[in-house]
Amino acid sequence: GLGAASAGRGIGFASVPMRAVDQVVVPAGYTASVLYRWGDPVGATAGQPAFRLDASNTAAEQALQAGMHHDGIHYFPLGSGADGSARGLLAMNHEYVDDGLLHADGMKTWSAEKVAKSIAAHGVSVVEVQRQGAAWSVVSPSRYARRITAATPMALTGPAAGHALMRTAADPAGRTVLGTLNNCGNGATPWGTYLTCEENFVNYFEGPEQPDAHQKRWGLKKGNGAAYRWHEHEERFDASRHPNEFNRFGWVVEIDPADPTSTPIKRTALGRAAHEGAALALTADGRAVVYMGEDARFEYLYKFVSRDAMKPGGAAANRELLDHGTLFVARFDADGRGEWLPLVHGQGPLTAAQGFADQGEVLIKARQASDRLGATKMDRPEWTAVDPVSKEVYCTLTNNSSRGGNNQPAVDAANPRANNTMGHIIRWKEDGDLDARRFAWNHFVLAGDATLARADARGNIRGDTFGSPDGLWIDPRGTMWIQTDVSTSTLGKGDYANLPNNQMLACDPTQGEIRRFLLGPAGCEVTGVVMTPDLRTMFVNIQHPGESPSERSDPADPMKLSRWPDGAGRPRSATVVIRKDDGGVIGS
Ligand code: FEO
Ligand code: CA
Ligand code: CA
Ligand code: CA
Repeated sequence: GLGAASAGRGIGFASVPMRAVDQVVVPAGYTASVLYRWGDPVGATAGQPAFRLDASNTAAEQALQAGMHHDGIHYFPLGSGADGSARGLLAMNHEYVDDGLLHADGMKTWSAEKVAKSIAAHGVSVVEVQRQGAAWSVVSPSRYARRITAATPMALTGPAAGHALMRTAADPAGRTVLGTLNNCGNGATPWGTYLTCEENFVNYFEGPEQPDAHQKRWGLKKGNGAAYRWHEHEERFDASRHPNEFNRFGWVVEIDPADPTSTPIKRTALGRAAHEGAALALTADGRAVVYMGEDARFEYLYKFVSRDAMKPGGAAANRELLDHGTLFVARFDADGRGEWLPLVHGQGPLTAAQGFADQGEVLIKARQASDRLGATKMDRPEWTAVDPVSKEVYCTLTNNSSRGGNNQPAVDAANPRANNTMGHIIRWKEDGDLDARRFAWNHFVLAGDATLARADARGNIRGDTFGSPDGLWIDPRGTMWIQTDVSTSTLGKGDYANLPNNQMLACDPTQGEIRRFLLGPAGCEVTGVVMTPDLRTMFVNIQHPGESPSERSDPADPMKLSRWPDGAGRPRSATVVIRKDDGGVIGS
């Protein structure tokens, strides 16, 4: 039954050869151009401060400019039909910062101003973009343009809002939190809102000398704060003084990009995790199903099913849809079947006697709850995607070199390779509609390099070589886009000797061939992809070009590892626009 739909599942382009480059390379007949770089004005008012090549912009200026380290991205059309593919809003994540590049002298000195600039460089951008002919530009001034940072007030809603574990000195009600951070993968809703996910929040909090059991399970310990040094000037990030602030991060945040005055909302019903992405699709009767990976070694894969159906009327009519529903965690069985286990207080082991006082505590301690339920410990679940044609669901498992190691979980059916350096993509089909409790699964592909000697690193790719799949998106026609995040310390070495750069590949999931569409500049990660509704413009984010293996650049020689995109100043994360030179459909 997929024949007609799959006819257009476009991988009709010539594969890009892998090689070390310091530019964005796309197939013959395509052009990639830079649209929105770290430091570019977001365009909320006319005459916003321009980026200074030596990174001497202040914290206040940074709060009006694109953040650092672009990640997940989504396009919301403004207008219908052809108009909607020529003008729209881009919402995108700014995951984290490289303090070596962010400040003129890097981390040589440290100050409240530097912490404020780092906080302002995190979060989300909403920018208005338009196309004239083939050329896209950021609209400025735009009434929609907005920066959301790690200091922007946001609401907590759902079962954990107001919980005793969420109350702080600054917010005794436990319902208002400042900011979102480490925004990695994303999602979007059919009612027009953006979902941004808080991933490695533990790295922002300085832990106590003697962490308690809850803090330990989430990796909070003394010394974590050294990564960003926020706690030195913002005491809410010192968990010894404010232990509950830590519980207010690790959520999926919903943002209405069409209303620049709207308050972002942390949706606690979706559970707390080192959230990667949030792929949302609807059941036949209109309920929202959200698939979410938790990107950490041996953590879990989640699904939320809303209680209510989506209503007509856009964001206003669906303001509480993601506050009511059931969260599940996946167990993958060796027989190719699997089950979604409910994280519901009072069911099974999730009782007060077992340390879960109520539903709020189950959600705040979702890892502990999933441990009790016997969910499957995965090889770092990153993005998920629902095939709009077949309703099959996919998740990238980026890598896990600890799998099968000493005192580490052994290989299992779903995570079948020890020292899994290359990663894999798992696929499942629900038994019936997307809200089903049981599913059938298999491995869509084991990534690897067929020329390697080590059997577990070879994989079974049909097509071009890749490893460490991370960003994943299936476009409306059903073409799968796979983006890679090979760490900078590994690119071009060991199992990655033949893979010097990160990349994006396209795949027709009905026949399985995977073909390389894009190479990123030196030292970058390729992450975040979306297209206009006419499929003739693609937006891709390039994160941390020129990153050093230490993730801290040398401010005295910032372009040592990459000169992209400007060839002067500093390498800058950026949104890239890709068009076919004949104006045709991408991949056709
Ligand atoms: Fe921010 Fe899991 O990548
Ligand atoms: Ca990622
Ligand atoms: Ca990653
Ligand atoms: Ca990265």
